[in-house]
Amino acid sequence: MERTFLMIKPDGVVRGLIGEIISRIEKKGLKIVAIKMLKMTRDMAEKLYEQHKGKSFFNELIDYVTSAPVVAMVIEGREAVNVVRKIIGKTDPIEAEPGSIRFDFGMTIGKNIVHAADSKERAEKEIKIFFKDEEILDYKRADENWLY
Ligand code: RTP
Ligand code: MG
Repeated sequence: MERTFLMIKPDGVVRGLIGEIISRIEKKGLKIVAIKMLKMTRDMAEKLYEQHKGKSFFNELIDYVTSAPVVAMVIEGREAVNVVRKIIGKTDPIEAEPGSIRFDFGMTIGKNIVHAADSKERAEKEIKIFFKDEEILDYKRADENWLY
């Protein structure tokens, strides 16, 4: 089954949205196969956002994502990369669709609550920044036969 990387950013944690975000993932039928709360180092943040090195918002982005704890997750399910990107919504919370996390809870691109990998290749790289292989668990959801 496809895997992706999802992270609740500092604003999501500090605003008390962890439960709400995890609940949406679970209710969709996606499976959380690894999860941890941590404060990212600048080194980790720069690896996570290496695609954006040199852009005008890069330093501000690194300051933001290292400013408080985050919740990192590995999510598994059919087309998990695309499905999770749809659940989080477009980068700018005002452009995102109603019903997406960013539209429902966000007001500005610089504080948009969640991060998710944008391709399978990025997902594999990003998972490795946060998790060892043995921290990713194999189990069956009780409703798996009703989801697939
Ligand atoms: P993410 O990587 O966090 O899931 O966000 P994304 O794919 O939707 O958007 P991306 O283009 O990868 O941008 C990464 C993050 O950088 C911040 N940003 N700020 N001030 C700005 O113009 C600006 N542009 C991007 C956002 O926090 C965005 O999520
Ligand atoms: Mg991105």
